[in-house]
Amino acid sequence: MLKNKIAKDKFYFEKAFQENLPYKPLFVKLKLTWNCNLRCQMCNHWRERVSDMPVEFFQNIVSELAELGCKRIHLSGGEPLLYPQIFELIEHIRKKNIKLTMTTNGTLINEKIAQKIGDLQVSNINISLDSPLANIHNEVRGLKNAFRRTLRGIELLKKYHQAKLQINMVVNPLNYTSVSEIPDLAYNMGAHNICLIPVKIRTQEIQHFHLEELIEYNEKIAPFAYAKSLMYNLVKSQKQIYIFGETFSELQESCKGNYAQGYYDTHPCMALWTHALIDHEGRVSACCYTVNNPTIGDLKIHSFYEIWMSENYQKLRNQFKAPLEDCKGCTMFIHKNEKVLETLRK
Ligand SMILES: C[S@@+](CC[C@H](N)C(=O)[O-])C[C@H]1O[C@@H](n2cnc3c(N)ncnc32)[C@H](O)[C@@H]1O
Ligand code: SF4
Ligand code: SF4
Repeated sequence: MLKNKIAKDKFYFEKAFQENLPYKPLFVKLKLTWNCNLRCQMCNHWRERVSDMPVEFFQNIVSELAELGCKRIHLSGGEPLLYPQIFELIEHIRKKNIKLTMTTNGTLINEKIAQKIGDLQVSNINISLDSPLANIHNEVRGLKNAFRRTLRGIELLKKYHQAKLQINMVVNPLNYTSVSEIPDLAYNMGAHNICLIPVKIRTQEIQHFHLEELIEYNEKIAPFAYAKSLMYNLVKSQKQIYIFGETFSELQESCKGNYAQGYYDTHPCMALWTHALIDHEGRVSACCYTVNNPTIGDLKIHSFYEIWMSENYQKLRNQFKAPLEDCKGCTMFIHKNEKVLETLRK
């Protein structure tokens, strides 16, 4: 989508890129709530309880985003299904004809919620499953019946929902040995693809990988995971399974959390021209990985347009043309950036 959109508007995009002016907020992530019912070891959201903003606040933001050309909103959190008025918001997003995707831990999905998600045509749902083995998933997620509840959630979604289902697995030192079994489970649950995400180290419980662990992953686990994923058509490329790189030096970089393997030493990230992240209080950041930096603006005070066009945002766009610390560990936009660069070179 991003690639096609930019291909049609190549001249305008290039000019915006050079002048640090925005293109369009084509894809916006909305972290609806900070609250969560799980206690995942690699995540910080649950450690803080905060109050939610009223749905009208988010509906106004969505209306403005629609006017600015937004094509996709991704709902996340915390746990987005804990946001009390989530379906009112989804209805609003769908009325604006914006594609809607969501990441959820799946544990709160019951018949009624699954039916509602199906009726409202959420196009892609990502469900987090951190191991095909119940005990490991429950340990990582901090709830003893999380696995059973998530699997039940997936079954219900499949009953009412025709759209794409992706299994997200955050690969960390506690669960990497079980990656070889995840394709079987994903296939049996009717998922369309799997997404392995290298863990970003942000809690005391989860530490960096040791080199021997990543060597073991590449030699003993990834080959099976890749072969099965190809057989079930769950991935398109080897890179999606060999997420820590393939060479010795790439694995060494991954042990430091530098999962981008130096990509941003030689390429810009163009997320800041087409993407933004809005948190549960309406604060705007450039992307998920930069949420711990000072936010760029506050939607309680300014409109999205004012923030998107602001001098602060322009400065940040300029800064992110050179690699920043945050980018070294981020693989989230590499594929999209490659596609956009390919389009611009044509
Ligand atoms: C923050 S969660 C919010 C949505 C929902 N609560 C869930 O768990 O799916 C969004 C995604 O980030 C992943 N995630 C959590 N902690 C992470 C970390 N330290 N590094 C990378 N991804 C992480 C989750 O597994 C999930 O797929
Ligand atoms: S379920 Fe999602 S938001 Fe909640 S603690 Fe786990 S990763 Fe974080
Ligand atoms: S590479 Fe990642 S952290 Fe850096 S600007 Fe892009 S999305 Fe954000």
